[in-house]
Amino acid sequence: MTSDFRAAAHDVADMIADYLDGMPARDVWTPMPADVRNALLERPLPEEGTDLGTLVRAIETEVLPYPMGNGHPRFYGWVNAAPAPAGILGEFAAAAVNPSSAGGDHADVHLERAVVRWLAELVGFPHPAGGGLLTSGASMATIVALAAARNRAAANLGVNVREDGLVALPPLVGYVSAETHSCVRKAAELLGLGSRHLVTVPSDAAGHLDPLALRERIRADRVAGLTPFLVVGSAGTVNAGVVDDLGALADLCAEEKLWLHVDGAYGALGRLDPVAAPRYAGLERADSLALDPHKWLGVPVDCGCLLVRDAEQLRGTFSLVPPYLRDEAAGGLGWFSEYGIEQTRPFRSLKVWATLAAAGRAGVVRDVSRCCTLARELGRMVTAAPDLELLTPVETSIVAFRWAPADADEETRHRVNATLGVAVQERGRAFVTGTVLGGREAVRACLINAATTEDDLRVLLDEVRAAATGLR
Ligand SMILES: Cc1ncc(COP(=O)(O)O)c(C=O)c1O
Repeated sequence: MTSDFRAAAHDVADMIADYLDGMPARDVWTPMPADVRNALLERPLPEEGTDLGTLVRAIETEVLPYPMGNGHPRFYGWVNAAPAPAGILGEFAAAAVNPSSAGGDHADVHLERAVVRWLAELVGFPHPAGGGLLTSGASMATIVALAAARNRAAANLGVNVREDGLVALPPLVGYVSAETHSCVRKAAELLGLGSRHLVTVPSDAAGHLDPLALRERIRADRVAGLTPFLVVGSAGTVNAGVVDDLGALADLCAEEKLWLHVDGAYGALGRLDPVAAPRYAGLERADSLALDPHKWLGVPVDCGCLLVRDAEQLRGTFSLVPPYLRDEAAGGLGWFSEYGIEQTRPFRSLKVWATLAAAGRAGVVRDVSRCCTLARELGRMVTAAPDLELLTPVETSIVAFRWAPADADEETRHRVNATLGVAVQERGRAFVTGTVLGGREAVRACLINAATTEDDLRVLLDEVRAAATGLR
């Protein structure tokens, strides 16, 4: 058994190294042949076991040839990173140790505290002991943050929402922009806050939440007897990588005693790019910050992170220690499961540690800056192209643009751009995804792979043009 495992594990290492080496020469993505897809979908549960060597061959022939594409340097879709090699090793080793990182005195628990602190240090967020934890992603981090924000607002009204429930509360009003990620609405719905009580505040032309409009709306809502409690700012919107005026939002939240949550799932690391850095002033004053190591850092999925200023807000919201869990020796900070939703928790910190330690701070800064530089270059190329239109100035590493030649009317532009992303994907040489920005159909290229080259940018624009010509 052990020797089987050793041999199969060596095979896996070779197979993965070949897979990663061969990636740039392959198509970014290919639709799955129907018979292969069906073979996976309809696979029967085997009655008898399969030896490890056969399993490795099945992974090689049935899984690896059909990836999402996000390891490829010309994958610009959504916000999906190429996996960092050190992170892959960390994931493998973590599965072998297989602890529950809920709490206690074992290496994984202490490593999680360390990497959460490293992440806070990287993005310049204060880090009180216990002031953060790793999550499955930013969606989960947002639910955790908004639960703490809700419970603090309730406590300020004299309500213990954990005991009395939402019925004891008036509606709590939160403020977002049109560009706020959908996970905020999902969290508000799940937490019983009601998406109707998330107010969409006007933005400027580039998509920044307008702090003056926000101030007026909060005043008006207070006069109307409503109970504001939360503002959500973006440190990198998903559509265009735009960073809100976090300093102005922090000022307003301090004045109005509101919880400021910053969504830095994609973009918090953009603070490491010297050109983008000034846009992030004020991030460190948020009550909570969500960021995703499984995005720009390339930590293998899944790995999100929530950072908070006041660790007690989390513990007060989530701590529930039944007798069978009370024996802990983690130095008074309690269990991670007292600060969030999950009880049994995966060993996420090893892949974060491995990824950050392999790159070092300087390596992370170099990669992030390279991506931002590439994005600015792509923005210049789009601006210089008569048939393309840049939709917002590039602030971080996402470039939102559309196909808009002078001889195409708005109806044609709308129709072509609406399916342009998929048409590019199907051609196989580059992968972008579509969106709607300011009411206009668009494509967006997200640059979070430092292996992307200037040539890859040219291929992207050639592919966009070729796909658009086909659609036209
Ligand atoms: C800005 C932003 N916020 C939140 C999320 C949700 O993050 P996750 O998919 O890790 O839950 C995303 C995902 O792309 C995002 O880009």
